[in-house]
This record gives sequence, C-alpha cells and structure tokens, in this order.
Amino acid sequence: MTNTSSSDGDIVSRSGEQSWFYSDVVKDHFFNPRNFMQDEAAYADAAMGLVGSPACGDAMKVWIKVDPATEKISDCRWKTFGCGSAIASTSMMSVMVTENGGMTLDEARKLRPQDILERLGGLPSRKIHCSVLGDKALRAAINDWYRRNNRLDKVEDERGRIIDPETNVTDKDIEHAVLDGADTLEKLQAKLKVGVGHPECLPEVEQLIRFYKEKYFGL
Ligand code: FES
Repeated sequence: MTNTSSSDGDIVSRSGEQSWFYSDVVKDHFFNPRNFMQDEAAYADAAMGLVGSPACGDAMKVWIKVDPATEKISDCRWKTFGCGSAIASTSMMSVMVTENGGMTLDEARKLRPQDILERLGGLPSRKIHCSVLGDKALRAAINDWYRRNNRLDKVEDERGRIIDPETNVTDKDIEHAVLDGADTLEKLQAKLKVGVGHPECLPEVEQLIRFYKEKYFGL
C-alpha cells in the first residue's frame, strides 16, 4: 500500500506533487457519484446513520443493507449536504464496502479514512474532515443495524472517552478539533478549554494531538 504523505502541509498526496489539489479519481467520483441515494422510501427499512460535521456544519446520511447470514454489506447508499470532497470520499467508501461481495460489518468498522484517501489519490489537508463524515455515518449505520437486530453487545459507543473531567472533553472532541485545524495545544485550548482547570490531563491531550495529526495528516 502506498503511504499517504504530506507534501507542503496543505496537500495530502500520494506522490508528493504540489501542483494539484484534486486527483482524477476524486473528480470522477465527484462528477459521477456512485451509490447516491435516489429513493429514500425504498430504503425505509434499511439501517441508517446520520451525522453532522463539527468542522463545517454539513450533514451526511448513510444507509446499509446487510445479509443477516454473513453480516456482509450488500448495498450502501448515501446523501449529503457536504462539499465535493465529502461527495467523492463517501462515493468511494460506498464502493469499497460493497465491492467483491461486500465487507462484513466487522471489516467495515476497520475501514479507516486513510484507506479511502489512498484509493482517492489524496485530498487537500483542509478537506480531510469531509472524508471523515461518510466514515462516521457508516459507523452510525452499523450501530443502527446491530440495534435493529437486537445485537446490543455489538453496538459501539461513539461518544468517546472523557479526557478532562472538568470540561467533559472526550478524545472524540479532540479528534474533531484537530480535524478542524486545532493542531497545537494553544489552539485546542482556545477552542475546548481542555486542561485549563485540570492540567493533569495535558500530557495525554498533547499525545492525542500528535496521534490525530499523524493519523489524518501524516505529520
Ligand atoms: S463536508 Fe463540509 S466542507 Fe466538506
């Protein structure tokens, strides 16, 4: 697998080229989105996940149909108010979870935003949060499928782990803030006030900032 790398801090690309912002694959999926939801009424019984982006306020809905015998995803549809990057990355995600007979729900949960970026040939770094939107809606749809099928042991808590008990800031809040550009402790504290009244958590906060920067931006 080719590593996604940061070239100039602004573009995340496979090749390190600085002369383009959107790959041909991204443009193709933007202009010809795969599996876009056309008929919501026909999917009224399908499991569905709806999420909003804390970074930009856009919303994403993902529907999945699953074979109960194999727990493989046979169909994945989506709809969004998000931008071209959200459209292209969710289109690619819908292809990845259904191609070759479909991923199992466990495999789909292991799909990472970096895997989608890899197939897209990269995205501008300021657009990474858009590619996370489809991934989060897919996870919500998987949880919905398990709930509908009385498999509550398989429902995952998406709220995250509390890092700062004073402010109730979780690791998910820190992840969203880093995606929204808070890539230093100062910027994160300006946004979330994390650690201001509970400085004992700051080493873990700094560790999480490094972790998410590496995860999403390869920095
Ligand atoms: S999804 Fe909101 S800016 Fe891309």
